[in-house]
Amino acid sequence: MSERPKMDRKSEDRLAERRDFLKTGILAGAGTALAGLGLPTPAEARAAGQARSRFAVKPIDPVRVGFVGVGGMGSAHVQNYLNIDGVQIKAVCDIVPEKVARIQKLVAAAGQPNPTGYSAGPTDFVRMCETEELDLVMNATPWEWHVPVCVAAMKNGKHAATEVPAAMSLEDCWQLVETAEKYQRHCQMMENCCYDRIELMTLNLVRLGVLGEVMHAEAGYLHDLREVKFSKEGEGLWRRAWAQKLNGNLYPTHGLGPVAQCLNINRGDAFDYLVSMSGPARGLHEYAVRQFGDGSPQAKERYLLGDVNTSLIRTRLGKTIILVHDTNLPRPYSRINLVQGTQGIAHKYPDRIYIEGKAAKPHQWDDFGAFAAAYEHPLWRAIASRGEGRGHGGMDYIEDYRLILSLRHGEPLDQDVYDAAAWSAIVGASCQSVARNSRPVEIPDFTRGLWKTNPPLGIVTA
Ligand SMILES: NC(=O)c1ccc[n+]([C@@H]2O[C@H](COP(=O)([O-])OP(=O)(O)OC[C@H]3O[C@@H](n4cnc5c(N)ncnc54)[C@H](O)[C@@H]3O)[C@@H](O)[C@H]2O)c1
Repeated sequence: MSERPKMDRKSEDRLAERRDFLKTGILAGAGTALAGLGLPTPAEARAAGQARSRFAVKPIDPVRVGFVGVGGMGSAHVQNYLNIDGVQIKAVCDIVPEKVARIQKLVAAAGQPNPTGYSAGPTDFVRMCETEELDLVMNATPWEWHVPVCVAAMKNGKHAATEVPAAMSLEDCWQLVETAEKYQRHCQMMENCCYDRIELMTLNLVRLGVLGEVMHAEAGYLHDLREVKFSKEGEGLWRRAWAQKLNGNLYPTHGLGPVAQCLNINRGDAFDYLVSMSGPARGLHEYAVRQFGDGSPQAKERYLLGDVNTSLIRTRLGKTIILVHDTNLPRPYSRINLVQGTQGIAHKYPDRIYIEGKAAKPHQWDDFGAFAAAYEHPLWRAIASRGEGRGHGGMDYIEDYRLILSLRHGEPLDQDVYDAAAWSAIVGASCQSVARNSRPVEIPDFTRGLWKTNPPLGIVTA
């Protein structure tokens, strides 16, 4: 691919506006409003040495949390937070009052005061953000609500954390970045797969230089979700609708997040552009016909989302990533998770590794587990046992733990708003590329050049 993708006029103008916005320090114009909220103005934050690249706020202890959306994933976060020191659950919001009541009971049973409930309609989270004294709003709503909830939280002086993907369009990715910058609040996307054992160990191997320079990665979300998408509850109520309106990679971050950390995306390198291709849509329709009958309303639905979408991403330093989205066909689960460097290659699903000079036999994989004694990530070593029996093999607990620890210590978060935007931008960019016969689509540099100087994420610990 010799030709760089060209931006259309509108995107160029928008980027120029953004550059001017920063250059002239117009952000400082928000000073009065921010002072009213008791927040530092951007100028004050900068003066305090808080470059957004390593953005941190003063230590917060305890961390007062409000939850929005307490279905499957929100409830899992609640359970984790009830088992992490320094957290108070102060408010709970869900459109289903019974779900709010269930969480209130859980929190009270754990010995904390009854959190205030909010369930007066789909935008009641705004009232929660305006009314409650909270440090963090944890958002585990359906995808269409991620950006409105995060923006309401940050506008009201709260840090935001959201389930994945953070946003479903490039415009919405920018909105998260600009709101976080304007209000000087954190906005973390909760990419739990960055904290799974093999992903952490792979990152550790990269940081220790064992894989050499990382050149290529392959990742994805390959999960037969047909039953979930047609369920009468949980994600069945909203996720299938997205397959009727978008065609691309709708869920990129579980696979992409961990390999993006290995490639130092936003911290030494950045996504440049992608090309994306979707195959035909058959899986959901065939499933609906089989499960509900030919004449059923489900069988009459029409899907845009190709069953298998494959994107090829190139980074500014010329590294490559193959990223797959495959959720409508029968298959065992995989996130692929392959990281290839100049000295070796690590692969999950199945767990295996090959390191030149260390492999038992040339050209043959070794079992990844054999390397654990030497290369287990210190974070996993320290607290994996506390997450045992909890969500997704313990990685969710470690993710929640790290967010709270970083806030309590006033440290930069492992994943910041630029990661949320860059990793989620694949949704919008892949849909655009698919719609244009797989033409290259630029992935915006949400850091506006800071990726060149941002330090890589180090080896974090407990
Ligand atoms: N990180 C992971 O491993 C993982 C796993 C599953 C789901 N997720 C993500 O978590 C999010 C939620 O998924 P889920 O499986 O928990 O779905 P879910 O449908 O079980 O939960 C969503 C909850 O949000 C509530 N809700 C809907 N609209 C709302 C609104 N306007 N205000 C307040 N509450 C509202 C619903 O009543 C429901 O309780 C999604 O973004 C999904 O992609 C992540």
